[in-house]
Amino acid sequence: MARPEDFRGDFPILNKGDYIYFDNAATSQRPTAVIEAIKDFYENSNANPLRGLYDLSMDATERYENARSTVADFIGASSSEEIIFTRNTTESLNLVAYSYGMDNVNEGDEIVITIMEHHSNILPWQMVARAKKAKLVYLEIDEEGVISKEEYESKITDKAKIVSVGHVSNVFGVTNPVKEIAAYAHSKGATVIVDGAQAAPHIPVNVRDIDADFYAFSGHKLMAPMGIGVLYGKKEILENMNPFLTGGEMIEYVTREDATYAELPHKFEAGTVNAAGAVGLEAAIKYLKGVGFDFIREQEDKLTRRMMEGMKKLPYIKIYGSNDPEKHSGIVTFTMDGVHPHDISSVLNDDHVCIRAGHHCAQPLMQFIGAGSTARASVYFYNTEEEVDRFLKHLEGVRSVMGY
Ligand SMILES: Cc1ncc(COP(=O)(O)O)c(C=O)c1O
Repeated sequence: MARPEDFRGDFPILNKGDYIYFDNAATSQRPTAVIEAIKDFYENSNANPLRGLYDLSMDATERYENARSTVADFIGASSSEEIIFTRNTTESLNLVAYSYGMDNVNEGDEIVITIMEHHSNILPWQMVARAKKAKLVYLEIDEEGVISKEEYESKITDKAKIVSVGHVSNVFGVTNPVKEIAAYAHSKGATVIVDGAQAAPHIPVNVRDIDADFYAFSGHKLMAPMGIGVLYGKKEILENMNPFLTGGEMIEYVTREDATYAELPHKFEAGTVNAAGAVGLEAAIKYLKGVGFDFIREQEDKLTRRMMEGMKKLPYIKIYGSNDPEKHSGIVTFTMDGVHPHDISSVLNDDHVCIRAGHHCAQPLMQFIGAGSTARASVYFYNTEEEVDRFLKHLEGVRSVMGY
């Protein structure tokens, strides 16, 4: 059986500076295989892809399109035409909101999201709702962060045009029943969007099994470079959508007054593309597959259990979400009596412990749970039990530094 130590040597940053990196929900670290793939692209294949009729450009194009096929296979899309490269989840969701939402949502319609969404899956829909005089409806959660069947069945009605749900919450780590929600939403005639930013790095995703109409995720949370993201969309829906950004590369023919657009997926990829990012994403997916989702899951559960058990011994710590570590996807959000989360993070920083503090880009959720701000420790498969133990020790020390 694999051990995290088997992989740590692959991550240059983890072997420098003695960091305990527990902010993996914000971004993961990159293995040498990914860093090398980017370097190799620029050293051996760099030219503007999709344009040049010379070998170097065609090589760049081939590498870019191979990356697209790898992504399609990774999430179970029917074809690589359904994979659009974006900058990140935020851009993917904005693309759907602008190109699909603005043309398909009308006055009186409802857009259903959940109270636990990241701002990236709230603000685009607020914008559509405002512009189209539609109503934004929030699915709410119980103490453990769970959306009940009664909740989604009572709030997704025939008025729903859009249902956009996070697959895994970046605050509770809870996995939402996206397949069940999609089936119910489809029975009401709604289009289903899934924000997979926190799911794709941790669990196998099959967009056809979920039956999502759109699925968005970011490369950087699964060890790929920053600046490359993915939007999956069903071909028949994408074909009927207007482009999001317009300009070079996304056209078929342009006259003074008008233009026809390129075929999928290029219709949605205006301007020079991030080919090195796509190549890095392909390398990250291959690396991730080598590690295997079984090991990722097992290691995250082991570390989360140890962390939560340790925290429960500290009476001044409150953990949010489920009591069951296996329902956290490696994310533990907490507060400490009498100490602001920013102070927890700053004091831990003195010990080279990296955790997140703040509203986690989920302010409506913070308002819902009655916490202005929380701290969040999030692990990935390359973290170790020894790091968890050191983290817990440092966490105990935070209170004394703060004068308790
Ligand atoms: C659930 C969720 N959705 C969306 C995002 C936005 O991702 P990005 O900043 O890569 O666009 C994040 C990032 O933290 C997230 O956790």
